[in-house]
Amino acid sequence: MACVVITGANKGIGLELARQLSQRGDEIIATVRTKSDALSDLGVEVVEGIDVTDDDAVARLVGALDGRTIDVLINNAGILTREGLDDLDWDAIRAQFETNTLGPLRVTKALLPNMTKGGKVAILSSRMASLAQNVGGSYAYRISKTAVNMVGSNLAIDLKERGIAVMLLHPGYVATDINGHSGPVSTEESARGLIPLIDGLTLEKSGTFWNFEGDELPW
Ligand SMILES: NC(=O)c1ccc[n+]([C@@H]2O[C@H](COP(=O)([O-])OP(=O)(O)OC[C@H]3O[C@@H](n4cnc5c(N)ncnc54)[C@H](OP(=O)(O)O)[C@@H]3O)[C@@H](O)[C@H]2O)c1
Repeated sequence: MACVVITGANKGIGLELARQLSQRGDEIIATVRTKSDALSDLGVEVVEGIDVTDDDAVARLVGALDGRTIDVLINNAGILTREGLDDLDWDAIRAQFETNTLGPLRVTKALLPNMTKGGKVAILSSRMASLAQNVGGSYAYRISKTAVNMVGSNLAIDLKERGIAVMLLHPGYVATDINGHSGPVSTEESARGLIPLIDGLTLEKSGTFWNFEGDELPW
């Protein structure tokens, strides 16, 4: 039984990952800004008030963990806006950088003392991060997700000596609040694809980028 911390687990993909992982017997620590009824119904451990952009909140999470060993950290929390070149919004760009890029770095750094050799860090990136597959637009989101790919790549290098592996994941275009439920993939399908990828993460695969269907993605 692995101990798995999931950020932003009150809804969407994070909630479904918590559901599927707890059903198979993993110990889940779900971190949220605000707990949802759906998360409460899962009966997993929840740490509330954890905004990944807030140093004090993340320090509170470390305190709540009280030295417990974490086997897997899933950096899932994220936000999306879709400004094009004609309607750039600097505040939105900054907000996405704070949440999508610095959030996973802040949380991973803070929880590293709780992780030992064999630990895994998964980061929910996006295919929209890919430079090779770029089709333009969505400046804030693309910038923030491409940058978090570098966060993951850097962490993979820096954590290899400690035996901790890091993976960037595209969950599919999933019907959640982030896209007004317009995606064709369900949260159930997405989590069913992501979990075996996280299970199969090794130091040899550390620093790679995958989609939920099991294909490696180009940077
Ligand atoms: N859905 C897709 O098609 C898709 C595609 C590619 C990548 N992704 C990525 O997958 C991840 C999960 O997205 P989703 O589709 O499940 O979206 P979602 O249903 O909107 O869930 C996003 C989660 O992130 C949390 N969150 C946002 N800002 C936060 C912050 N500052 N601190 C803590 N939690 C915060 C939200 O909490 P609140 O409820 O408190 O706002 C919510 O729990 C994101 O990183 C997203 O970029 C999604």
